[in-house]
Amino acid sequence: MAGELQDKIAVITAAASGMGRETSLRFAEEGAHVVSVDIDVEAGAALLDDVKAAGGSAEFLAADLTDLGQIEDVAKAIEAAHGHVDVLFNHAGAAGPRGFDFDADQWEFQVNLNLRAPVFLTKLLLPLMGAGGSVIFTSSVSGLIASRNSPVYSTVKSGVLGFMRAIAAVGGADGIRANAICPGTVDTPMLKQFFQAPGESDTVLEERLASFKQAVPLGRISQPQEIAELVLFLAGERSSFITGVAVPIDGGYVAL
Ligand SMILES: NC(=O)c1ccc[n+]([C@@H]2O[C@H](COP(=O)([O-])OP(=O)(O)OC[C@H]3O[C@@H](n4cnc5c(N)ncnc54)[C@H](O)[C@@H]3O)[C@@H](O)[C@H]2O)c1
Repeated sequence: MAGELQDKIAVITAAASGMGRETSLRFAEEGAHVVSVDIDVEAGAALLDDVKAAGGSAEFLAADLTDLGQIEDVAKAIEAAHGHVDVLFNHAGAAGPRGFDFDADQWEFQVNLNLRAPVFLTKLLLPLMGAGGSVIFTSSVSGLIASRNSPVYSTVKSGVLGFMRAIAAVGGADGIRANAICPGTVDTPMLKQFFQAPGESDTVLEERLASFKQAVPLGRISQPQEIAELVLFLAGERSSFITGVAVPIDGGYVAL
């Protein structure tokens, strides 16, 4: 039986870990050829092994997405190998510095990875997309509501939503959709970056997580597989009339 993304070319950034990895595995299971992009070569190779062991199709492009030149190289490689793109999941990002104690380098890193990378990769790959194309951005609940923890992260993740809406507006005439996912807290290696400063104990992490869960109506954090299901839905035909929206996937956190 044909999969939901049968023979589609699906580009996924930050594909080697967490939500990007689970989405890569799920897309491949649904018949897509996954072009996985990540800075971590070893984890990228492990992902390819797992996709192939499950009978799927994938390739890996190593890139530091804070570097504009490497983003251009990724786009050129995709154009040369495939000539078109069906799905682009702009997932790469990093947790932001705490409070207002940040410097210009930290600001620049956040802007470059969380905002400039998805903006430029989309700008470069959009001409390769056509009717039925779907661009999905990873924002955050912090792009929807204020984050006291990291105002810089809130700022760049809000910017992602502005760009997503612009792509929905300009892409609509060509049948290209754009949407964003806004995860709450997800059980991935990045979780520690949000809840634990360098040098702080695991007890502090556990206490902060316990108090965070009290603010979540469903009382827990999510698993990356739950996020992958939403990305799959937004990527394929089941969401054919949905564009320009930012979907919270947060156990109800922003409803309070
Ligand atoms: N985990 C959460 O609780 C959470 C919540 C909301 C939003 N997010 C967003 O999700 C995304 C991260 O996903 P995750 O939680 O699955 O993280 P993760 O830590 O599991 O994976 C991050 C991946 O990004 C890659 N990466 C890091 N820097 C890179 C760079 N410069 N160039 C290319 N790749 C790079 C890493 O190698 C790694 O494979 C980010 O956009 C983050 O802002 C995460």
